[in-house]
Amino acid sequence: MTQQGPAFDVNAMTLTRWVLSQQRTAPSATGDLTQLLNSIQTAVKAIQTAVRKAGIAKLHGISGDTNVQGEQVKKLDVLSNDLFINMLKSSYTTCLLVSEEDSTVIEVETERRGKYVVCFDPLDGSSNIDCLVSVGSIFAIYKKQTPGEPSEADALRPGRELVAAGYALYGSATMLVISIGKGKGVNGFLYDPSLGEFVLTDPNMRIPEKGNIFSVNEGYAAEWSEGLKNYIHDKKHPKSGKAYGARYVGSMVADVHRTIKYGGIFLYPATKSAPNGKLRLLYECNPMAFIVTEAGGLATDGRRDILDLQPAGIHVRAPCFLGSRKDVEELLRYLK
Ligand code: AHG
Ligand code: MN
Ligand code: MN
Repeated sequence: MTQQGPAFDVNAMTLTRWVLSQQRTAPSATGDLTQLLNSIQTAVKAIQTAVRKAGIAKLHGISGDTNVQGEQVKKLDVLSNDLFINMLKSSYTTCLLVSEEDSTVIEVETERRGKYVVCFDPLDGSSNIDCLVSVGSIFAIYKKQTPGEPSEADALRPGRELVAAGYALYGSATMLVISIGKGKGVNGFLYDPSLGEFVLTDPNMRIPEKGNIFSVNEGYAAEWSEGLKNYIHDKKHPKSGKAYGARYVGSMVADVHRTIKYGGIFLYPATKSAPNGKLRLLYECNPMAFIVTEAGGLATDGRRDILDLQPAGIHVRAPCFLGSRKDVEELLRYLK
């Protein structure tokens, strides 16, 4: 019989402990990023609790408002947004926030300011909330580079300059995936409800070099470019070998997480009616591109690396193709 591991881990690597250990080994660290990540962790814990009991607590359904993109705002969108804003402001480490749910940047009051700029999608995949399909939260963290008052320009930076990014997936379990900088890899922490803590379960996550799944909303295929039509056609009707499987949750966090774990490619392309696609550069494409790139994959808008795009506004959109390196490279040959 194989030896069973201990039923109870008396030395669990919690997210809090992990972040602290990273700070301790960085000579110049002030502890601000630790505090900032702890505030995000608190927001995520509260959101996951709200998501899990939303149906009972009457948190399903719409709030009655529409956001800057003209989309219906759900009650859980509002709650998640308030949690992110309140926790981030009270961490004393941020000066400027960009949220999917707020049309303009949010300036932190002078007395609570710190050096970080955070862009976030408090609840991603909100069309999936009411039917209990996975949703998530996404965040991207910059360090303010200019002296003086914080302004929109401090958030309009290419993804290449991010100091950290991550996402939380509220799926069949809750997981927080995070990268705290270029070359520092990607780590995944599963939420242990009995501890109320995230525990490191997926150290140094690496995306397979090549996968066998494509993930795209095929309903819009008539509006795709010829190159993209040909690529998906060839995935379904390969000249040799097996066809790719199709998986599309419709929550970016879930689709990207699966892509990192199993390999393959996620696509949200431009269409005739939406020439820049749907996903927002600052708080959807960039943080996910950062994570996927750190995990050894690629992320492109079809012409350039997502991380090199210069954002023209805080809610701008970009076509987004990301995943296994060989799959994305193959797609790029079709898009030429
Ligand atoms: P959000 O709920 O934050 O507005 O984002 C939804 C996004 C993203 O999660 C997903 O990949 C995409 O919308 C799905 O769009 P389609 O329904 O057009 O496929
Ligand atoms: Mn979203
Ligand atoms: Mn959202």
